[in-house]
Amino acid sequence: MAKWRIVYVLGLLQAMFGLCSNAQRIYGDPNYPFVRNATQAPPLLLDYDYIIIGGGTAGCPLAATLSQNFTVLLLERGGSPYSNPLVENLVGFYPNLQTNTPTSASQQFTSEDGVPNNRARVLGGGSAINAGFFTFADPQFVANAGWDVALVNASFAWVADEVAQFPTVGVFQGAARDALLEAGVTPYNGQTYEHVIGTKVGGSLFDSNGHRHTAADLLTYANPENIDVYLYATVQQLLFAESPTDVPGQQPQPRAIGVLYTDLEGNNHTALLSENPQSEVIVSAGALGSPQLLMLSGIGPTDHLDFFNISIVLDNPSVGSRMADNPTNSLWVLTNEAVEVSLIEVVGITSFGSYIEVSSGQTEALLGVLEGDTINFTTPTEYGDNKLNDRPVTAQVLQSRIVAAILETPSGPLRAQATWGGTILQKIWGPQSWGLLRLASLDAGDNPRVRFNYFQEEVDLDTCEQGIRLAMDAVEAPALSSLQYTNDSVPPLLTPVREAVLASWPPRDSSNVTQDSINIREWCLDSVTTIWHYHGGCLVGDVVDRDYRVMGVQALRVIDGSTFGQSPGTNPQATVMMLGRYMGVQILRERLGSEAGV
Ligand SMILES: Cc1cc2nc3c(=O)[nH]c(=O)nc-3n(C[C@H](O)[C@H](O)[C@H](O)COP(=O)(O)OP(=O)(O)OC[C@H]3O[C@@H](n4cnc5c(N)ncnc54)[C@H](O)[C@@H]3O)c2cc1C
Ligand SMILES: *[C@@H]1O[C@H](CO)[C@@H](O)[C@H](O)[C@H]1NC(C)=O
Ligand SMILES: *[C@@H]1O[C@H](CO)[C@@H](O)[C@H](O)[C@H]1NC(C)=O
Ligand SMILES: *[C@@H]1O[C@H](CO)[C@@H](O)[C@H](O)[C@H]1NC(C)=O
Ligand SMILES: *[C@@H]1O[C@H](CO)[C@@H](O)[C@H](O)[C@H]1NC(C)=O
Ligand SMILES: *[C@@H]1O[C@H](CO)[C@@H](O)[C@H](O)[C@H]1NC(C)=O
Ligand SMILES: *[C@@H]1O[C@H](CO)[C@@H](O)[C@H](O)[C@H]1NC(C)=O
Ligand SMILES: *[C@@H]1O[C@H](CO)[C@@H](O)[C@H](O)[C@H]1NC(C)=O
Ligand SMILES: *[C@@H]1O[C@H](CO)[C@@H](O)[C@H](O)[C@H]1NC(C)=O
Repeated sequence: MAKWRIVYVLGLLQAMFGLCSNAQRIYGDPNYPFVRNATQAPPLLLDYDYIIIGGGTAGCPLAATLSQNFTVLLLERGGSPYSNPLVENLVGFYPNLQTNTPTSASQQFTSEDGVPNNRARVLGGGSAINAGFFTFADPQFVANAGWDVALVNASFAWVADEVAQFPTVGVFQGAARDALLEAGVTPYNGQTYEHVIGTKVGGSLFDSNGHRHTAADLLTYANPENIDVYLYATVQQLLFAESPTDVPGQQPQPRAIGVLYTDLEGNNHTALLSENPQSEVIVSAGALGSPQLLMLSGIGPTDHLDFFNISIVLDNPSVGSRMADNPTNSLWVLTNEAVEVSLIEVVGITSFGSYIEVSSGQTEALLGVLEGDTINFTTPTEYGDNKLNDRPVTAQVLQSRIVAAILETPSGPLRAQATWGGTILQKIWGPQSWGLLRLASLDAGDNPRVRFNYFQEEVDLDTCEQGIRLAMDAVEAPALSSLQYTNDSVPPLLTPVREAVLASWPPRDSSNVTQDSINIREWCLDSVTTIWHYHGGCLVGDVVDRDYRVMGVQALRVIDGSTFGQSPGTNPQATVMMLGRYMGVQILRERLGSEAGV
């Protein structure tokens, strides 16, 4: 759409609806009176200091902070996390990932690598559908970002106080903790949010009753007088106008002035910033959503946008580039007794970039997750060669052997034993391999196409090999092996399952070091899964500057995991929430002075 036409349409809407910037409040959500359904939003909302797109892990703390002193509109395409049992309870974690309706909190996608994946579509974002593990960034990551360390620390504390606590570890997590220490992942650092080499118990969004906290809880710090939140509001496009720059002689730049969004009934709505030149649109739509929305709005690689007939606002080939997902490989362990149902609690942080994480009691979940078709890795696309090309097997093949064995056994007794096991998984640092994101359609509600090129760089395979050797050492260490299934300790029922579990481990060759290494590396490729820590697409330096302003346009920032060049810490969410708070305070300080936002 030509810019003059947008401005014209807006003028028309304004004339029709007047200054209807404040909809009648609908007190539908018991938790926050300012949260409403977008179908109830007027066609035009006006006069916001900030319009934030995506009420996710970064968007919620950012909106809460900015609303202290400015008016904020937060638009989230999903629904409320509150009173959604799949979101609120720990045991809902895997079943939730199986849902995929137009309004489910999890939206499934399969990357072009052929690896199944999930993304958030709910207020709270990833923090409302994730495994809850809560841990800070590596201090080196903070240093590289050039952030103000004191404000980073204060922002981590602000987030942690509201959403995180330490779990009480059960039998399996405790055994895995001891086994990691026996395997040499030392020292023991006890309970800590800090990223330190050794073995530790990290934080969790889940409390002792298995009840989840999310980033949406941070909206409790919002000023209710200054914030409007609309749910089921899918932003389709950012709106721009030409704007002269402050710099004499410089070409006018596009300036973000508002957004177009749709509700569940398919109706179009417009929201506009105030005329104050310091007003801004902030995109916090996540690593898939943010580069996708920039492209849909005309910011991205010209050739790709031309293909979709999208008018160019700014050519930037880096939008959607550097998409990465940390490869993850799991060792399944069958135990000789029922163990606690837990997500991630114990982690081992090595000095060589392998992070070993533990979960348990999920055999039931395995059944749910892995029933169904095996997905093959894809053939080459225009992105070129990929290490996973032409590999007909995936993690799903290995794991479906376990499922097949389980399904062969009578379901009654087996389901009673559904918590007889756990996983020791490895996520690798970085990663160094990366791919691309491209549009699949012109609808922002659709998934874009994304390819992560797992293990494309040899160094990622090196880390996988080294880390999996260590993880196997832990599985075979006394503390864990004493908990493992033996023929004597369990009814014969589980013997085929045990065999399938063992067959899902890397085939070893102790007589030939070269062959042994090949085996483990092949296994890393064949059994790769996601741990859902994908990031990139709007990197600092490529798409945004160090203040997260989109380079080449005005009044537009991107603040979320899409700006990361690597996944921070062992797990990213605490850093993403911290970034939302941190940038909220920084923006308040830019406008109100250094005392603001504390
Ligand atoms: C299944 C799963 C398990 C995980 N486990 C852990 C874990 O245990 N620990 C950990 O630290 N990390 C974990 N992660 C990763 C972590 O949750 C994410 O890295 C983090 O939540 C990303 O935050 P974000 O703000 O970048 O994006 P998100 O939190 O995804 O926020 C983006 C928001 O924008 C909305 N949105 C997108 N497009 C639009 C649009 N066009 N209009 C309106 N709204 C839009 C989305 O609905 C979403 O709510 C997990 C992630 C998943 C998916
Ligand atoms: C939001 O509005 C849509 C369309 O009117 C409706 O179908 C849906 O049930 C509403 N959702 C909630 C949670 O109110
Ligand atoms: C900003 O908001 C805070 C909290 O509401 C308030 O104490 C402070 O006075 C405000 N600052 C300005 C400059 O308005
Ligand atoms: C921030 O926290 C880290 C880790 O706890 C600590 O080492 C550092 O001294 C703190 N820095 C500041 C400036 O508070
Ligand atoms: C919303 O806007 C789009 C694009 O301008 C248009 O194609 C569509 O018909 C509109 N929808 C409704 C319900 O008016
Ligand atoms: C772009 O426009 C051309 C010419 O109108 C049309 O043939 C083509 O289908 C459009 N492409 C897309 C992806 O909509
Ligand atoms: C996956 O690949 C195998 C072997 O190449 C083939 O038999 C099978 O049909 C494929 N499955 C799907 C879902 O494409
Ligand atoms: C133990 O199980 C293995 C295979 O899992 C089987 O080969 C072996 O015979 C069993 N031993 C006993 C004593 O049952
Ligand atoms: C070890 O394995 C490699 C790779 O398969 C093979 O080339 C080599 O001949 C083997 N060495 C021995 C001594 O078997």
